[in-house]
Amino acid sequence: MEKRKLAFIGAGNMSRSLIAGLIQSGYPASAIMASNPSRGKLDQLANDFGIHTSQDNDQAAAWAEVIVLAVKPQMMAGMLSDISNVDSTLSGKLLISIAAGMSVARLTELSGQTRIIRTMPNTPSLVGLGMTGLYAGATVAQTDRDYAELLMQAVGKTLWVAAEDGINQVTAAAGSAPAYFFLFMQAMAEQAVRFGLNETDARLLVQQTALGAANMVAANPDVSLSELRAQVTSKGGTTAQAIEHFQAQGLEQLVADAMTAALLRARELETQL
Ligand SMILES: NC(=O)c1ccc[n+]([C@@H]2O[C@H](COP(=O)([O-])OP(=O)(O)OC[C@H]3O[C@@H](n4cnc5c(N)ncnc54)[C@H](OP(=O)(O)O)[C@@H]3O)[C@@H](O)[C@H]2O)c1
Repeated sequence: MEKRKLAFIGAGNMSRSLIAGLIQSGYPASAIMASNPSRGKLDQLANDFGIHTSQDNDQAAAWAEVIVLAVKPQMMAGMLSDISNVDSTLSGKLLISIAAGMSVARLTELSGQTRIIRTMPNTPSLVGLGMTGLYAGATVAQTDRDYAELLMQAVGKTLWVAAEDGINQVTAAAGSAPAYFFLFMQAMAEQAVRFGLNETDARLLVQQTALGAANMVAANPDVSLSELRAQVTSKGGTTAQAIEHFQAQGLEQLVADAMTAALLRARELETQL
């Protein structure tokens, strides 16, 4: 990966994970800067990783070749208009946004720049197991795309989408999806407690099973998900009883409807930020 001078504007959870991943993969601390209004998170980043820090976004943006826009979506407009007031601070630089719901057109409007890559990471990025969607317009160079991809691979896996609405699909299928699994796991753990297990044991059973199931999926890329399920579902057995119940109650349709609701909300947010 090219070691371009990289600034993170906003030093919150996501920036911290990306910085940790980059340092772990050999990116030089001297080529990274983070800026944030308050000092606390900056001091932690400086202590833990030895990167440069600043409370001045303009200073970070002026120093960098690549700028990661990592503030909350509702802070983006104010932050960018402050920076964009400083002549040539952003001019011609690669901007990589990790903010949910901000379209490239809106980012261009706010920053005056067109060299923009929009990404949609998810929360497991915080533990290095993220899933990030990336989108860039046709004018963005392949070298910039490669750079952004490697950047996001510091915290997990990546997927390019050809059209910008693909980011909304990624949001419904991955961005919002950790919570779907948490909800399912919560319902399972609560039922296990009703059966008589204590909460610690119930959580362990559910957590380890989810981890094991996900790892089996990853370890068998050539086996379809329905085949993996069939392999552990003997006719007339206990698993078959549970699966039949899920399907009779319309679980697949429920999931489809829930994901569609997330997709529609993602599209709606894009028009509001
Ligand atoms: N966390 C995730 O899993 C996840 C997933 C997908 C997308 N994202 C996106 O990633 C972005 C960051 O999320 P996060 O979870 O890292 O949020 P976060 O922990 O709240 O971090 C945001 C940081 O931005 C700082 N900030 C606020 N105003 C600023 C300004 N004008 N200039 C510079 N920094 C400013 C905040 O500082 P103070 O706290 O000092 O105010 C905070 O440290 C968001 O746009 C979010 O949509 C996050």
